[in-house]
Amino acid sequence: MHRRTFITSLASLAVAGPAAAQMNHDMSTMNHSAQSNAPATSLLDLPEGQPLRELPRLANQSVTPGLFKASITAGPMNARLIEGVGTPMLGYNGGNPVIEVTEGDRVELDFTNDIPEEPTTIHWHGMPVPADQDGNPMDAVAPGGGRSYVFDLPPGSAAPYWFHPHPHEFTAEQVYRGLAGVFLVKPKADPIPAAYGDTVLLLTDIRLAADGTIAPNTSVDLMNGRIGDHVLTNGQKNPKIEVRVGERRRFRLINATNARFLRLAFENARMTVIGTDGGLLEAPVAADEILLTPGERVEIVAAFDSPGPATLTTLEYDRGWMGPGKPDESRLALLTASIAGDLAEPMPDLPRELRTIPAFANPAVTRRFVLSEEMGGGMEGMDHSSMPAAGMKFLINGASFDMNRIDTVSKVGQVELWEIVNDADMDHPFHIHGTQFQVIERELGGIVSQAPHPAWKDTVNVVPGETVRILLRQDLPGARMYHCHILEHEKLGMMGIVDVQA
Ligand code: C2O
Ligand code: CU
Ligand code: CU
Repeated sequence: MHRRTFITSLASLAVAGPAAAQMNHDMSTMNHSAQSNAPATSLLDLPEGQPLRELPRLANQSVTPGLFKASITAGPMNARLIEGVGTPMLGYNGGNPVIEVTEGDRVELDFTNDIPEEPTTIHWHGMPVPADQDGNPMDAVAPGGGRSYVFDLPPGSAAPYWFHPHPHEFTAEQVYRGLAGVFLVKPKADPIPAAYGDTVLLLTDIRLAADGTIAPNTSVDLMNGRIGDHVLTNGQKNPKIEVRVGERRRFRLINATNARFLRLAFENARMTVIGTDGGLLEAPVAADEILLTPGERVEIVAAFDSPGPATLTTLEYDRGWMGPGKPDESRLALLTASIAGDLAEPMPDLPRELRTIPAFANPAVTRRFVLSEEMGGGMEGMDHSSMPAAGMKFLINGASFDMNRIDTVSKVGQVELWEIVNDADMDHPFHIHGTQFQVIERELGGIVSQAPHPAWKDTVNVVPGETVRILLRQDLPGARMYHCHILEHEKLGMMGIVDVQA
């Protein structure tokens, strides 16, 4: 449906324009009836400017070369975001760990679900793992239960991946309550100078109620995706690093928020993109700004050439907000580098060539996936409390997700052209499990633009009215999900299953 009609349906709840305040009031009344005992949210201050913490590494319990073995438990943890206030959250082994392995390694993880009364899974976002090890909603682990996840990471799979829960109906909540981790697959030989370091920046988004607990979702969240009040970098608000003039640093940025579009700039630093979701580019590309949508990763090298602080910050981005309550998404500082005296020795330059990305063969089939939004019938007179779940639908090819339905049948090893068509009014970051794809071209308003350079991707943003054409191949059999990575849209149906047959 088109944005105008969508807003019109909302306007039947409350009138826009001079009555905007009234509309906000109505929306909040609606939220309260939807979440009857929800505490009111308030903008609690989080401490800023503390030294950047490294995320904990998951220790390898194996001594066998080429084998990574560890235990991982999803369960409650108590976070200390504010002095003296505990925030009940969910964590993996009590936090957001980094699993670091080398391509070619075998991984064996012993998983336990300690989340009270909720099923969960671990999904290895972007990773080439077998379908039955990929934490699909069909493979839920019951509360108190466990399973092992076992997979081999083939040569060429080095990339900054991440992992998160994917149980049917609970993914969005479990992610905003804190469940996410980083999965770094390192290459055998890394072309990026070691002198740049390797800093992971896991970006999450949190909204706290006045008592410091995580506030539940509102109907505005269900429609637009949940936007928190604070973007956190490795669990901290605007942490600080120290660098020297002339220093270059490698950063791996992961957008693990439910729904926040991060249009990023690095004030007083020069950014060079060196990699995307599926690993390094063929050659470095200078960038003034980067749009990192939910689920995506980017690797950059930041050059700090002049004195004074440098700030990684967000810029305004219009992703098609529906209804009231659009948060201010600009000027959020995610990381501040304080730049002290000169470097003793100049840093090595980036190599001109990082790797080769082979082109796909011609596609054997073309498939079309049309993303649309629907506001269920007659909002007028509808019980407000039933409105969010009953009213909104996010569809692919006109269908809402059904765990027991195969939407697409494909073949192992077959090159396919997928056309992702956004026939909706919001941006939708489209994600496919089990493989990496290449964006070939984008078409908007009759104008086709080729991708500027090849890159491995597993999530691509599609703006309203746009068609994005991608090439992909699934090398492993089984059922794979594809969906919008705004997790509230995934929850409300914008997901399908492709069965890849051997
Ligand atoms: Cu990161 Cu199906 O998701
Ligand atoms: Cu995924
Ligand atoms: Cu979406």
